[in-house]
Amino acid sequence: MPMDFVKVTKAAKPYVALVELNRPKELNALNSQLLHELRNAMQELDRDEAVRAIVITGNARAFAAGADIKEMADKTAVEMMTYKQSGVWGDLKKIAKPVVAAVSGFCLGGGCELAMTCDIIVAAESAQFGQPEIKLGILPGAGGTQRLTHAVGKARAMDLILTGRFFSAAEAERWGLVSRIVPDDTYLAEALHLAETIAQMPPVAVRLAKESVNAAFELPLTEGLQLETKNAALLFSTEDQKEGMKAFVEKRKANFVGK
Ligand code: HXC
Repeated sequence: MPMDFVKVTKAAKPYVALVELNRPKELNALNSQLLHELRNAMQELDRDEAVRAIVITGNARAFAAGADIKEMADKTAVEMMTYKQSGVWGDLKKIAKPVVAAVSGFCLGGGCELAMTCDIIVAAESAQFGQPEIKLGILPGAGGTQRLTHAVGKARAMDLILTGRFFSAAEAERWGLVSRIVPDDTYLAEALHLAETIAQMPPVAVRLAKESVNAAFELPLTEGLQLETKNAALLFSTEDQKEGMKAFVEKRKANFVGK
């Protein structure tokens, strides 16, 4: 299906797909069409055996400046419930393959929430993050009150969400929201390189490791540890585990096949 606001490049690096938000004049404001295109593209890439890792990016000026305020402004509460129930945000979180957000410029509101649905955030050093919804008379309603709090802790999340102030890539990195800050002109290359490194790892192990880490946010510790133990044991049924350990013993590079 043709897409207006999302551009997909398969094999941007071996086994890596690049998904670019492409509504530059509006700073990639996330309207319904863009979000649906993004959801469809991500689900298709999740099914594609030639893809092992995905990078989502915007452009140098903005990852995304939030949900589209102009589209939302006149909605009623009931319409907003349906709008959110379109399920896009939940569907994005269900992507099983690793997703890296390559962030430059503004990463605000729903844009910050989108980055937080990704597994890893790589940020250009001048990137600006924020949950400024409070200034519009609303709150971060696409996961921000929960995911930002998990990432940076209650006191900082309250500070950021109740004031709506922007915060820097350096703050985001210090607080654990961002994993790497890189020079402005290299953020996309670094994110693609990171995705390529992950894509070279055995994909079943990557998938179960992602599931296990995410369980840390959903499950009590005992259940999370049980899931980890089962997933770790399950990997001993894969060809890639046999190959990975054999290659170590034989002092050669492993050749992973994804089974
Ligand atoms: C719609 C947006 C937009 C947005 C920017 N634009 N952000 N349109 N929704 N979120 C549009 C502007 O209207 C303008 O279009 C163009 O993009 C360029 O933006 P400017 O404001 O002219 O640029 P600048 O002066 O550089 O300011 C950049 C900015 C500012 C600081 C990022 O645009 C801004 O504050 N944007 C809104 C940020 C925000 O509040 N995000 C949270 C949204 S609510 P025109 O045509 O006018 O020139 C949200 C809720 C999620 O995300 C939960 C949903 C359930």
